[in-house]
Formats: sequence, structure tokens, C-alpha cells
Amino acid sequence: MKQIHILLSVAALAVSVGGAMTVSAAGADADKSSMIFGGTLPPGYRDWKLISVAHEEGNLNDLRAVLGNDAAINAYREGKLPFPDGAIIARIAWRYVPSEENNKVFGHPQSFVAGPPTNVQFMVKDSQKYASTGGWGFAQFSDGKPDTISVQGCFSCHVPVKDRDFIFTRYSP
Ligand code: HEC
Repeated sequence: MKQIHILLSVAALAVSVGGAMTVSAAGADADKSSMIFGGTLPPGYRDWKLISVAHEEGNLNDLRAVLGNDAAINAYREGKLPFPDGAIIARIAWRYVPSEENNKVFGHPQSFVAGPPTNVQFMVKDSQKYASTGGWGFAQFSDGKPDTISVQGCFSCHVPVKDRDFIFTRYSP
């Protein structure tokens, strides 16, 4: 009886060690994606590489940058679609404001710069987990805190670029 008990303990230990190994083997990208949906911004996302920039007028009136983690950037550079699981694309944005300081130097109004930040949006690739939304998880943060969003609302607007794996932004060399 005692022997069976020991065997069971060893088995349980093996399972828990095995489990821990699976988590670390999944890599930093998977950890970051679970952080996004656990309600925290993935550490280091602000240092991800630049994919491109854009300016929205109207109500948004922002300047924005689209950044990618290594998995996303590699796929872009190799022109590989669909994006691999673990790819994360971030869209950061700021109010589009005139710069008085720069305009003084130019001698006339022409300079617009990044003002206060607006919000941060993420798309995280996991083809199994987010199968119902094109394999992408969607999230948005304001002031570092997660916003309540309609994931279907996000997804449905990205459907027109289905042939580019639901991603609008092209890589700007
Ligand atoms: C009204 C349509 C619309 C909705 C709704 C929408 N998006 Fe987008 N999204 C776009 C367009 C168009 C772009 C590319 C231009 C830009 O950056 O604004 C974009 C760009 C992005 C990007 C950069 C990658 C890419 O596709 O270029 C991310 C990340 C993103 N959206 C996430 C979200 C999230 C998260 C939501 C829901 C909270 C959302 N989007 C809702 C239209 C939409």
C-alpha cells in the first residue's frame, strides 16, 4: 500500500514538473498574450519594432503607430501569411496636436506632433483559441487598464482584409 502511495506521489510530481515545463516552453510570446487577456499590458510592448504609422482625422484625430513582437515582424518581413500563433500586433496612438514650439522655428504653422496618449489596441494570434474571430484575440487598454469592448465589433470591421489575415497595416520599409 505504501509503495503504491509513493508511486502515485512520484507520478503527481512528474505531472506537475511536466506542466511547468510546458508553460516555459510555450515561450515569452504566449506569456505575453495571456497577460493581455489577464488584464495587463505585455511588458516591453512599447519597444516592439515599428510596422508603420498612420493619421486618423474626424473624431479619432490621432497619430498612430503599429508595432509587432518578433513573431509578427518576422512574418511581415518574410511576407508569410497567415501570421503564426504567438504573433502580436499593437496599435498605439496619441492626439494629433499642433506644435507651437516647432512652428516658431519654421516661421509658419506646419508642425503636428504626438499629444497625450489615447488608447492601445492589440491583436493576438492563436488560431485554436480565437478560431471564431479569424484566429485573432482583440483587446484594448486605456491608461494601462483593459477596456470593455465588443470583440465581434472589432473582428467584423477587420473582415474586409480577410485575404491579408485580417490585418490592414502594410509593412512600411
Ligand atoms: C470601424 C472599423 C474598425 C473597428 C470597429 C476596429 N478596427 Fe482595428 N483597424 C481598422 C482599420 C481600418 C485599421 C487600419 C488603420 C488604422 O490604423 O486606423 C485598424 C487597425 C487595427 C490594428 C493594427 C493592425 C491592423 O489591422 O492594421 C489593431 C491592433 C486593431 N485595429 C485592433 C482593433 C481592436 C482591438 C478593435 C476593437 C476594440 C478594433 N480594432 C476595431 C478598423 C477597425
